[in-house]
Amino acid sequence: MDFKNLLADRTQLMEANAIREILKVVSKPGVVSLAGGIPSPDSFPMEIINELTDRVLIKYKSNAFQYDLTEGFIPLREQLVHLLENRGIHTDVDGVNIMSGSQGVLDSIAKLLISRGDKIALEAPTYLGALSAFNPYEPNYIRMDMDEKGLVPESLEETLKNHQIKFIYLVPTFQNPTGRTITLERRQKIAAIIQKYDALLVEDDPYSALRYNGDDLPAIKTMAPDHVIYISTLSKIFAPGLRIGFFVAPEFLRQWLVLVKQGVDLHTSTFNQALAAEYLSGNYLETHLPKIIQLYQPKQAAMFNAIKTYLPEKFHCSPSDGGMFLWVTGPKGFDMIKLYYKCIENGVAFVPGKFFFTDEKEGIETMRLNYTMADESTIEKAIQTIAETIQTI
Ligand SMILES: Cc1ncc(COP(=O)(O)O)c(C=O)c1O
Repeated sequence: MDFKNLLADRTQLMEANAIREILKVVSKPGVVSLAGGIPSPDSFPMEIINELTDRVLIKYKSNAFQYDLTEGFIPLREQLVHLLENRGIHTDVDGVNIMSGSQGVLDSIAKLLISRGDKIALEAPTYLGALSAFNPYEPNYIRMDMDEKGLVPESLEETLKNHQIKFIYLVPTFQNPTGRTITLERRQKIAAIIQKYDALLVEDDPYSALRYNGDDLPAIKTMAPDHVIYISTLSKIFAPGLRIGFFVAPEFLRQWLVLVKQGVDLHTSTFNQALAAEYLSGNYLETHLPKIIQLYQPKQAAMFNAIKTYLPEKFHCSPSDGGMFLWVTGPKGFDMIKLYYKCIENGVAFVPGKFFFTDEKEGIETMRLNYTMADESTIEKAIQTIAETIQTI
């Protein structure tokens, strides 16, 4: 049978992109990967999983294995109301809904909002998974300028002035891929601009809890609640495999997103949601989160130091106070893809940054480095190897 003939038109837009091809070699034996984008397994609270499971079985019995509400398991949503309150986002049990990871929320938003040719405004660079969620619906991307302080508000205003934008997608805190954070002053400006133009912002916030330095910043959602869909996740502060994401949206959109999810998977795993409810209600997060931070903070510091020590002066690393990534920009025109292949030969992988841009001409001289997986001395050696390889180009 010719299965290819059966594929929908939009399926072509999901085709394996160049990054997957390029990253195939990462798993070669002996290669140290700074290319990954996943939390360290050492960050999972394995020591309490039995206890949490017992609590779930005693408290919820067979209900933990039953079909449940599309909106999400109520005991988990009750806990998330408190977690969100601590982030300055005021909502109630009805207002916070669960989906299968933040990725599930991005996918549902795309399905709900994007018609072919709709314009979506994005940071340049942006999160690849968001593009994977949006691409099948055939939007046009409008790229906005970023610098070390995150999205440039004037660029947002220009974009909203000149284009009919369906929504804006931002990762304001410890962005993937750059690790950058939008400053407080800019957040206030962005909130004012989206209100002025009556624009919808999708604020994706998986990393703000992973802060290693400085003070927490308020989400843009707190400044323009009626114009923002706020998305977050337990993937980085509990375990990504449980697939627990959540969102707070303007009521009209929340109701539609529930309908979308009904058609996708009815609801997220009840057992996993119950486990998450117990993790949050039993104060485990309060004791476990500092351990995750203790695990990652020295890794980030080791990577920063190694970059400063070994990389040539013309290679600049964006400041970052948290998350999972650092972003290095080389001299203009420096080909990070060429460097990537040479580094693989020398046993180190990273992600060339160009793949995070929607404009093909951008980002050739950039790279994303992940520091959650390797230990400090491996990180140092890997950066040293990258530095030595740069000299050969
Ligand atoms: C910016 C961003 N959004 C969303 C996700 C997806 O996270 P989740 O595990 O909650 O689906 C990630 C994961 O790396 C991410 O970096």
